[in-house]
Amino acid sequence: MKRHHLCVAQFAVWLCSAQLVADEGVFDQYRDLMGDENPAVFIVDEGEELWFMPGGPESTTLEACDLGLGPGITAGAYVRFPRYFADTDAVMDLESRLVYCMTTIQGRDLKTLTAKPYSQRGDFGTEIEALVTWLAAESEGATIAPEQTHAAERAMFNLGEEIFFYRAGPHDFSCATCHEQSGMRIRLQALPDLTSQSGASEAWGSWPAYRISQGLVRTMGWRLRDCFRQQRWPELQMGSEVSVALQTYMAVNAAGGTMAAPGLKR
Ligand code: HEC
Repeated sequence: MKRHHLCVAQFAVWLCSAQLVADEGVFDQYRDLMGDENPAVFIVDEGEELWFMPGGPESTTLEACDLGLGPGITAGAYVRFPRYFADTDAVMDLESRLVYCMTTIQGRDLKTLTAKPYSQRGDFGTEIEALVTWLAAESEGATIAPEQTHAAERAMFNLGEEIFFYRAGPHDFSCATCHEQSGMRIRLQALPDLTSQSGASEAWGSWPAYRISQGLVRTMGWRLRDCFRQQRWPELQMGSEVSVALQTYMAVNAAGGTMAAPGLKR
């Protein structure tokens, strides 16, 4: 009991968490113990603070950032991503939109911001991870409703679908190889059917998520990158067209579902 509480207090100490998930049963136990207390709540608070904290050479907050619903509007913004932005003439995911705002509004250096897009085990999490987690929480309970009004958004969906079924790499795997049927498992991990509305919405609506085994919050961008690794494909770049396309494909399949993030994962 004591050790579990210690893990909550020191949520970034992944070693402690890794011990807890040595087997699947312990994960369920952890979940029961935690109840509604997802350690991601700490990251949500951090993300909110970061949004309102003056930063960068311009020493400005992110309140002028337009996430698609108008400058500074954060509630319900997450569930409309990925979406087209006229100012960049591009379909963007939330991560790349945040990078755009941090560079244009705060004057932050793009290279520094994106040098290490996702935290590694033992880290305390990146600013973007915290911001994405808070923004997801700002859409908690909202209906997943990505934009598909602009031609570029529909083209992005089509590209995402194509990539989802594209077989390549040393194992000749596509995303569909592992994610086209329901009830499939690899070892102990259930594999969602991302081509179905129910599978896609459960998956899309549960990220970003706190990963107990890593003691970190992970975003959907990271999740995809990790599947690229499992697929033995080249490293997926944050905010790249491929990443945005796959996210568009999943979000559109998930439309109508409910945003339940931040989630809690093994
Ligand atoms: C070799 C099998 C395999 C391939 C290929 C694969 N994945 Fe995965 N995927 C997994 C496994 C295993 C998990 C669960 C991992 C975990 O829980 O730690 C997962 C989890 C996910 C999740 C999160 C689901 C949830 O509900 O939490 C998403 C989204 C996802 N994959 C998308 C993709 C996409 C998109 C591709 C293609 C680029 C892909 N995956 C390719 C095995 C695969």
